[in-house]
Amino acid sequence: MECYGYSQGAGVVMSDEETFGREFFDGGKKEPWFYRAYSLDEHYPLFQLVSLGMKMYFNPKRVLDVGCAKGFMVKAFREQGIEAWGVDVSEYALSTAPEEVRDYLYKVDLNGDALPFTDGYFDCVTFLGTIECLDDYSKVLSEIRRVLQPGGGLYLRTTFRTDPEDTIRKNVHSRGYWLKEFRRCGFKFLPTWKGPLAHQWSYGTLLFERG
Ligand SMILES: C[S@@+](CC[C@H](N)C(=O)[O-])C[C@H]1O[C@@H](n2cnc3c(N)ncnc32)[C@H](O)[C@@H]1O
Repeated sequence: MECYGYSQGAGVVMSDEETFGREFFDGGKKEPWFYRAYSLDEHYPLFQLVSLGMKMYFNPKRVLDVGCAKGFMVKAFREQGIEAWGVDVSEYALSTAPEEVRDYLYKVDLNGDALPFTDGYFDCVTFLGTIECLDDYSKVLSEIRRVLQPGGGLYLRTTFRTDPEDTIRKNVHSRGYWLKEFRRCGFKFLPTWKGPLAHQWSYGTLLFERG
């Protein structure tokens, strides 16, 4: 799947693998749509919080992190004794993941590839900061539904804020839009945030159950 590159002017076509390379993750850029340095030091606490909340809320045995980057969420779940796997298109991110999780990460292009897991293999899926980067999210939503057990949990985090200069996030929509799309694709919205995930609530976070 091809997209327009952010750094070399309009019309320059870059693959997703090139777009999500070293410059995106660790290039030291000032613009908010790049990471300055995608390191455990800066980012791990978020994944620890989300994985702890998911454990307390759903008590999953197997979790998939979709758009896993360097596998930090996989590491956080595995440290709690949960079988966790991750998928991402970025060769750079996957190859710079902590060594102990690399065997649990697969390279997958979410714009069209199937997820390399059998039907109903997972109790939970986490999907952070990635749906808005896809050209076409229809395949991944049907694939997430396929690999989730009925009643399984889906933690989605996306952004509702658009920036005309941000060419990385091509699929930014309102909360209402996503609620409708996920319902159409067979997910039930879990509107109450009274449990252990309450601390993780933010405007861009939505929790669903597979219908
Ligand atoms: C903004 S980062 C979020 C990473 C991580 N989930 C987090 O919350 O820190 C977006 C991720 O989506 C991945 N991605 C973008 N397009 C993709 C595609 N077509 N297939 C698979 N992964 C993709 C990128 O490589 C990157 O790791």
